[in-house]
Amino acid sequence: MLSQADNDALCRIGPGTLMGNFFREYWLPALQTYEVPEPDCPPVRIKLLGEELIAFRDTTGAVGLIDNNCPHRRASLFFGRNEESGIRCVYHGWKFDVNGDCVDMPSEPAESNFKDKVKIKSYPTHERNGVIWAYMGPREIPPALPELEGNMHEACFITVLFRNNNWMQGIEGEIDTIHASILHGGHLQPSQLQPGSFAYYQAKNKDGRFKVKETPVGNSYGMYRVAEEDSYYWRIGHYLFPCFAMPPVPTLGREARFLAYVPMDDEHTLEWSIGVREDDGLAVAARQGREYHNNGTGWYDRYVIEQNWDNDFEIDREAQRTMKSWSGITGIRQQDMAMTEGMGTILDRTSEHLGTTDQMIIRTRRKLLAAARALAEDGTPPPGVENPQDYHLRSGQVILPRKADWWEETRDRIERFEAWR
Ligand code: FES
Ligand SMILES: [Fe+2]
Repeated sequence: MLSQADNDALCRIGPGTLMGNFFREYWLPALQTYEVPEPDCPPVRIKLLGEELIAFRDTTGAVGLIDNNCPHRRASLFFGRNEESGIRCVYHGWKFDVNGDCVDMPSEPAESNFKDKVKIKSYPTHERNGVIWAYMGPREIPPALPELEGNMHEACFITVLFRNNNWMQGIEGEIDTIHASILHGGHLQPSQLQPGSFAYYQAKNKDGRFKVKETPVGNSYGMYRVAEEDSYYWRIGHYLFPCFAMPPVPTLGREARFLAYVPMDDEHTLEWSIGVREDDGLAVAARQGREYHNNGTGWYDRYVIEQNWDNDFEIDREAQRTMKSWSGITGIRQQDMAMTEGMGTILDRTSEHLGTTDQMIIRTRRKLLAAARALAEDGTPPPGVENPQDYHLRSGQVILPRKADWWEETRDRIERFEAWR
């Protein structure tokens, strides 16, 4: 259970909040390359950490991320003309470059130097293999990008999903690995599955025990359950500051992928999945069952799927009743969304009853709050910001002898990193 004050501290990410300041120390995925596909293309509305921003690609190909509102009389730059290396407000023609400098002010007399004194809020961006990252923090020179292997190969696949709840609910859903055999696989019988497979052991035993290990950049877990007389089936995954996770989807070591739960504001999140896998079936699997809305241009129109809260995720009660599907909801992600959105947009953590299998969640909340407070109280640099290589991790499933030390035994697979660039 968390106090109301701690719950607020954890969830609120607007400017000036404890967690908002913490988040702003990190690079975050803001949009995809294809959203601003070519020089001088139409600008895009981006909601990020509670701020309304406009992304545009200028004539040279550089990506700008600036305040939505023009500093003159606050018209929206979404309507701006993106031309000749800058975006021009259509109201009185003031023009800004990707650095936020005002480069033209046709409404003022030619001899005025007012233009040199005006800036629009702008944030540095960095484009890496299809992802445009943003740094919204205080450092004059931004830190290096986190070395998240999943985004360090030019062939990485990217999927994004709009989630109608606070970012922390998303992250907690990711590290709550025990639910996989119930919510996602409760209808599966061992007799339908290949003996000795991960799915088989998942179906055979629904309970599990957790080991949690601190890493320099977050917490890792190993959840294990009985496999055979002399072995355990392990699910090994990671939480990484501030909003990254690596879930145990593949065979351990076979995939480099991460998820990012990037706060749009306190009540809306974009879930990013970015990675590469040795066999490339995952890109297809990740999108299965998702029909995207014909996305509009509004703040909350990006990456919304047809199956959503407003239609109860198209739950099929007959499929639920006949055990064709445990939940009656099609799609793993859609099942997750129904659970996290059903908690309310900001989960009330004062009313929970957490059990032994929730210890990864409990320790991650504590670690996050402690790191955010250390930054606020004495400027302790947030974990990982100055050590981008701390993100070199992989997750996955594995069968180990019962007496094996889960971390030592699998370390070469967990820490396997191939510097694709
Ligand atoms: S409001 Fe943008 S130029 Fe006047
Ligand atoms: Fe899930």
